[in-house]
Amino acid sequence: MQYFIQTFGCQMNITDSERISAVLENLGFVPAKRWQETDLFIMNSCSVRQKPEDRVHGLIGDSLKIKKKNKKFMVGLTGCMVRKSSTQNSELKDNLLKVHENLDFVFRIEDLCKLDQVLRECKAKLKIKPLEDEGTVENYFKIQPKYSNNFSAFVPIQTGCDKFCTYCIVPFARGREYSRDFVEVLAECGNLVEKGVKEITLVGQTVNTYGISRADKMSKKFEKYGKYPFVKLLEEIDKLQLKGLKWLRFTSPYPKDFSDELMEAMARLKTLCHHVHMPIQSGSDAVLQMMNRQYSVKDYLKLVNKFRKKIPDIAISTDIIVGFAGETEAMFKETCALYDKIQWEMCYHAKYSSRKGTYAGKILKDNIFAKAKSRRWHKLNEYIKKYSFKALKGYANSIQEVLVDEKKQDGLYYGRNFHNKLVCFKSRSNLIGKFVCVRITQVKEWLMEGKLLNK
Ligand code: 5AD
Ligand code: SF4
Repeated sequence: MQYFIQTFGCQMNITDSERISAVLENLGFVPAKRWQETDLFIMNSCSVRQKPEDRVHGLIGDSLKIKKKNKKFMVGLTGCMVRKSSTQNSELKDNLLKVHENLDFVFRIEDLCKLDQVLRECKAKLKIKPLEDEGTVENYFKIQPKYSNNFSAFVPIQTGCDKFCTYCIVPFARGREYSRDFVEVLAECGNLVEKGVKEITLVGQTVNTYGISRADKMSKKFEKYGKYPFVKLLEEIDKLQLKGLKWLRFTSPYPKDFSDELMEAMARLKTLCHHVHMPIQSGSDAVLQMMNRQYSVKDYLKLVNKFRKKIPDIAISTDIIVGFAGETEAMFKETCALYDKIQWEMCYHAKYSSRKGTYAGKILKDNIFAKAKSRRWHKLNEYIKKYSFKALKGYANSIQEVLVDEKKQDGLYYGRNFHNKLVCFKSRSNLIGKFVCVRITQVKEWLMEGKLLNK
């Protein structure tokens, strides 16, 4: 039996899909190359914007054709779109199963360890052995993931979110924020490094509130790690450099909770890369307030200045939403002006997408026309191009150490440096997963090209 997982959205979903793969392979499934040629097709959905949700609905529709040809074919869905684990045979069904009759099952990611039961509820005759529970029913993070490569890994350290930004579905989709056990995270990182992983990225919705969410405080489990459990965690993982860990990253921190201690740790710990992705969302205080972001532009600027003083080579990137409900042209211009001031080196721009169930979805009118959202989005692209290029020019003729990620169809190798900048170069040897030195010979808007050096 074959399976295929289509993942949408953030790194959290990528790590979840690695755990789904592991469960399916334990059940006896093997990976397929295309979803059209498999027995089990699972979509791991993202609800942050309407577009990825529409794609999921479209794919479920498309899968009907395959179902007609292959009677064994099953279609399932997990991720942020799912509210209740259920199948077409359940008494209480998730709404999605009512909308799509050819969708066989949906499951909440926390119920991953019950996937065997879900599959059997769909097809009683399915020959799969029961999954063993080693604490994994209660805590799906305990499942050993099937990592997508053996040199760089994402490790989730918390799930859910307590911030309730008015536009965001995550607190509803993923629930209240809680952190993974300290020892468990450390053990996962230790195992990875032992197996040869050289780069680890810690993942969480507001990763710097690790161990200090409301639920974490109530559990008292993190008290022994002091006021800043996240810093303590970084310090402990940093020690793995003795066993071969080279680079440690994290994404994404929430600006208000960025402590001096964390910044100091970034300056001090050798493995911590000098790149920080700090979502601002808007450069207008009025918009930030409507978004319930708990900081002002001034606070953010102060943080950036402190960073640049303490770690002069820090690369700072961000997320910005354009066309949020009530964002006037003047408010948007404030974002543009801030762009000139901060000069983010990379930014993910999104057009505001109203989400059902959020405060903004219910109360604030999505009153910016699609055309205006598009225009603002394109305008910000001009800024990002300009400042990405400007930052990259600073690397011209330098020698960069790069962890090689992949070889693309253009025949070039691609990887990232300490500052998370994309570098490409030519080579005849297979260098994927290796650290190499590259002399930068040409700088483009988004990436640098260079010549491989012999170490
Ligand atoms: N519309 C547009 N963008 C959104 N994001 C989150 N919710 C929405 C929404 N409703 C963006 C934010 C966040 C990133 C992960 O997705 O910029 O930082
Ligand atoms: Fe969503 Fe805000 Fe939480 Fe980020 S901090 S996941 S934008 S609610």
